[in-house]
Amino acid sequence: MATRRWVLRAVIALGVPVLLLSWTLVAVSAQGPSPSPGGKLPGDPAKGAQLFSSSGCTSCHGASLEGGVGPRLNPIVTLPDTKNPLDPNYLIDTITNGKSGVGGYGTMPAKGGNSSLTDQDIRDIAAFIIQSNQQKGPQALGPVELARSNVFWIATTIFLLVVVTWLLARYNMRWVARRARNRGGS
Ligand code: HEC
Repeated sequence: MATRRWVLRAVIALGVPVLLLSWTLVAVSAQGPSPSPGGKLPGDPAKGAQLFSSSGCTSCHGASLEGGVGPRLNPIVTLPDTKNPLDPNYLIDTITNGKSGVGGYGTMPAKGGNSSLTDQDIRDIAAFIIQSNQQKGPQALGPVELARSNVFWIATTIFLLVVVTWLLARYNMRWVARRARNRGGS
């Protein structure tokens, strides 16, 4: 009997942290940089979304990528110098070097006028533009949506932990009851 008790304790002691860990991993991986189908993104779209608004891109391309002085970026306009404006290389090249006189718009300065943008920043912004277009609809991965998906995963994790704890507790009580019965009988 003493061995069985030890085994049960070991199962609980190991099982609960393992479950916790695996659910955390599921929650984290579900928010990885490429949650949507349609291939690899060149960077982190969530960071790109922040950079897009903090770098002043919005003043010409709109807060929801709807366009303005510059072309609409979602759904992205296909300018005459490219077949696929969602090609990461095209986006990275355009953002890095700027553009002028191609689509009858004004001039886009190199890096949108932000010389401080790094190559990684530009890859993140390109990822944001690609993902927004894949998800159809403006600002598909805005900060609000991101916060909402965090809340969803945390709530799901807590709910499952409660269920698992309840099941374990119930199993444990049944076992305690059976042991008490056995003791009474012998
Ligand atoms: C001063 C206004 C202005 C700013 C600021 C600006 N752009 Fe542009 N952008 C333009 C214009 C104008 C064009 C089109 C140029 C042309 O047609 O030759 C353009 C074109 C683009 C294109 C190509 C769009 C397509 O349909 O092929 C991308 C991508 C782009 N901009 C991204 C950005 C990003 C990212 C930023 C911020 C880092 C930014 N832009 C900042 C004016 C701007």
